[in-house]
Amino acid sequence: MTDAAVASTSVEARSIHHVGVAVEDLDAAVATYERLFGGRLEHRERVEDQGVEAASMRLGESRVELLAALGEDTPVGRFLAKRGPGVHHIAYAVDDVGAALADLHAAGAELIDEQPRLGMFGLEVAFVHPESTHGVLSEVVSGG
Ligand code: CO
Repeated sequence: MTDAAVASTSVEARSIHHVGVAVEDLDAAVATYERLFGGRLEHRERVEDQGVEAASMRLGESRVELLAALGEDTPVGRFLAKRGPGVHHIAYAVDDVGAALADLHAAGAELIDEQPRLGMFGLEVAFVHPESTHGVLSEVVSGG
């Protein structure tokens, strides 16, 4: 529950895979990242059962994942209602999401996903609760 309760793990993040940003208008957000930062649309995907439409923007070697809610009663919809548009999560590239989850669990981190799951764009992902990571929802990702 508290940060102090989390022991060390052997997880070694390779890089920040992407920063997730919750947006009100996906088309407008894609255009903004193209226009202001030279971003290039890498993927766009609508996932009905997660209530989200996402656009992965490539910016040099980095990515920003723009997330728009498909309805108010969805995870991103609730985030937008509570906090407004802004940074939603940070995703760390790891070699093995399953091994990272087991390690994080053993260390006392609060997991949102107990098992790796197929995320957007064919990636294997899992989320760690923001209470374990100083207020920012964290994602571990592999496969891209
Ligand atoms: Co993400």
